[in-house]
Amino acid sequence: MGARVSDLLGGLAPSATLAVDARAKALKAAGEPVIGFGAGEPDFPTPPHIVEAAARACYDPANYKYTPTAGLAELREAIVAKSLRDSGLAVDATQVLVTNGGKHAVATALKCLLDPGDEVLIPAPYWTTYPEAVYLCGATPVPVMTDSALGFRLTVEDLERARTDQTKVLIFVSPSNPTGAVVRPDDVAAIGRWASEHDVWVLCDEIYEHLTYGGARHVSLPVVAPEVGERWIVVNGVAKTYAMTGWRVGWMIAPRDVAEAAINYQSQTTSNISNISQRAAVAALTGDLAAVSQMRAAFDRRRRTMCAMLNAIDGVSCPEPEGAFYCFPDVSGLLGRSVGDRVAETSAELAESLLETIQIAVVPGEAFGAPGFFRLSYALGDDDLVEGLERFATLVAKG
Ligand SMILES: Cc1ncc(COP(=O)(O)O)c(C=O)c1O
Repeated sequence: MGARVSDLLGGLAPSATLAVDARAKALKAAGEPVIGFGAGEPDFPTPPHIVEAAARACYDPANYKYTPTAGLAELREAIVAKSLRDSGLAVDATQVLVTNGGKHAVATALKCLLDPGDEVLIPAPYWTTYPEAVYLCGATPVPVMTDSALGFRLTVEDLERARTDQTKVLIFVSPSNPTGAVVRPDDVAAIGRWASEHDVWVLCDEIYEHLTYGGARHVSLPVVAPEVGERWIVVNGVAKTYAMTGWRVGWMIAPRDVAEAAINYQSQTTSNISNISQRAAVAALTGDLAAVSQMRAAFDRRRRTMCAMLNAIDGVSCPEPEGAFYCFPDVSGLLGRSVGDRVAETSAELAESLLETIQIAVVPGEAFGAPGFFRLSYALGDDDLVEGLERFATLVAKG
């Protein structure tokens, strides 16, 4: 008898970040004093004017029907206006497809571009979804390791080492999950020029565009590197900017022929995104950015606290992240030695041991192609953050 599940799906890895988060939430629900550093979502509620727009939409029968596959006209127009306002990216609504979150936009974009045999450059440490989404297209993910001494900022030299004749796409994410690295504007432009010289498409993941700290700022690659011409796709969404992870609204913007292929694909798979969520997204995007600047101030404070507390632990070293809401410390100094009377040989074992002994949930670097590291989200309350890191520091000090 053949396998019950296809070879393709049988070979797919589960999302490690969602798994850690689910485990932490389950333990918490069972009464354990778990502090979760695993989640990739803001701890703030969605701003009230957005929730109210959704509530009103529930009472409008127009929203009980299918919308066009590509999304409500108002939402596509709001995405056009927002792109110009926030990053100077000038597009028209026919280039926009509304998707079920940014993750769906990434998967759809890759589906539009890839054939078996194509290679996709993925800067590492990488968001755990990218290689699996490439794999699902029958193409080959090629991790491109960045240098922790350079704050994990991608360079043209890193890319050139990994390029082959099969390289079709570069996934470019800045600010980055999991490292928080933000590539400098000049380097973004250089990466765009490199892509155009080698006919490489750039899939720009801009989901963390508004979460940058200190002097760092996000720039949109097709804006600072117009040389990429018609070989770029931008993906984005409301999840991180407006604390709307559960509403599931993202989008992709692409040259018209690719956008049409994506809309066609979505028409045969998921159809439109929930109308209620789309109405909420219209309210989010046509409103101001006051909520995100408040969240950014809180994240910035927590970022500095977390980074300082991690660096104070013997055996842990953490470059200061400049964007998103993650710290990505090197914990290799804790491996092979006693921590809380246990000896872990890998960061995955250490993460497991921390959850069992001091009830803190972190995602091990293995999930991001970087063993020896941890990813800790600082999108949690200040008190929990401090208490969780104190537990960690106390355990390490005990040996
Ligand atoms: C780098 C990156 N891109 C895209 C997403 C997708 O977000 P969502 O599908 O919730 O819109 C995430 C979420 O964690 C992310 O970290």
